[in-house]
Amino acid sequence: MPRLVVISNRVAVPKARGVAGAQGGLAGALNAALKANGGIWFGWSGQETPDFSGSINYVRSADGVTTATIDLEPQDIEEYYNGYANSTLWPLFHYRIDLTKYEREFGKGYERVNERFAESVLPLIEHDDSVWVHDYHLLPLGERLRSMGVSNKMGFFLHTPWPPANLFVSLPYHERLVRAMLHYDLLGFQTAVWLESFLHYCGKELGADVDTETGAITLDGKTTIARAYPIGIDFDYFTVMGKTDAAAQAEERLLSSTRNRSAMIGVDRLDYSKGLPERLDGISRFFDRYPERVRDLVFIQIAPPSREDIGSYKDIRALLEQKAGQINGACSEVDLVPVRYVNKGYSQEELIGFYRAARIGVVTPLRDGMNLVAKEYVAAQDPENPGVLILSRFAGAAEQLDCHGEGAVLVNPYSADEMAHAIRVALDMPLEERKSRYHKMIVTVREENVHEWTASFIADLAGVAA
Ligand code: F6P
Repeated sequence: MPRLVVISNRVAVPKARGVAGAQGGLAGALNAALKANGGIWFGWSGQETPDFSGSINYVRSADGVTTATIDLEPQDIEEYYNGYANSTLWPLFHYRIDLTKYEREFGKGYERVNERFAESVLPLIEHDDSVWVHDYHLLPLGERLRSMGVSNKMGFFLHTPWPPANLFVSLPYHERLVRAMLHYDLLGFQTAVWLESFLHYCGKELGADVDTETGAITLDGKTTIARAYPIGIDFDYFTVMGKTDAAAQAEERLLSSTRNRSAMIGVDRLDYSKGLPERLDGISRFFDRYPERVRDLVFIQIAPPSREDIGSYKDIRALLEQKAGQINGACSEVDLVPVRYVNKGYSQEELIGFYRAARIGVVTPLRDGMNLVAKEYVAAQDPENPGVLILSRFAGAAEQLDCHGEGAVLVNPYSADEMAHAIRVALDMPLEERKSRYHKMIVTVREENVHEWTASFIADLAGVAA
């Protein structure tokens, strides 16, 4: 099996320094891929340096994964990470053109950092390696590497949605960006919907020859394959973590603090795409409509801060504090507070314990590539007494966890009424129905796991480029 060179903006944060809740799904997934295949993981260290040198820090982790990282200059971080990646592409890819910033300097910084990534990783790529690039930070990296003579098999996976063509064309130089992506041999998307949007764009805007059956896109004599590969969790590892003392203690901690109220839990990076204000509006509507149920439900929102230097992220934080405060002001009693809003991350083990203790898991992004919290919530449940997953129909995970209407309770996250109704349905759901929904969802969560995801992407990469 060829060695893997994984390239992403962020690499896994060693356990002691980070918290699972703050990392997003990508880190855990790639760690699992590298453990299985061997190789190297290259990316940004998350650190600043006054002058970019390209010098690489190597760290070999206890589980055998080698990371190679570079530091970036403050201007790089501002224009590439805070700028083009997270103030232009991120909002645009989540259909938020109202928040999308189109600044020339951001675009230049993005090109510069992709060039720096390419120059730095180039000496690490050996003849037979497969190169696997991840996410919207590095869309043009494959083209940069090709221009430096890399002829290895190269794949790319997008962890976010891909927007409809009529939104994407709002991006200056959109054609150049997608033409650069077609230098990869294989492009992976989370769901059939994002894949369709991409294929549609290539046909309509670039005039490429697109075969929607096979995902083959042919332009200027070169063919790239695009397919959907829904990412999963590391189910076996997750099961082991669920049996630890830390998980049991966290479960007990939550249960004893909620006493005879049912807990509903949300765990999300503090990001406007996650639909957190809308979620609080749904909860507020639930308490307005069923005031007596304030003694039945406690809502716990864990939201570790994210991308704090960006204005739209500061705004969302302020808005949430205000909304959580309003609900608590209006609905609290001397002996109870209905909303617990926590701005910090927890370890994977603790989160599993919290998920297991919560009768309802609420995952209601306005738009999300996949959302692994939904899958983690299901995986953490006690099969004999499982909780209910309330899931946004706009999360990629809904394609898999709807289970023909017999899995997650799907909602429109923009509708406070629908959310309030779903909370009531979930709270009152009889044990037999909870079990039946759980059993349908757990099959997908267990079978379509991260090892399957990695294996099928790598197998296709070997096949398409042959
Ligand atoms: O999954 C999307 C993603 O942007 C990942 O690329 C990233 O690791 C995660 O969310 C967390 O975001 P950030 O790296 O900006 O903290």
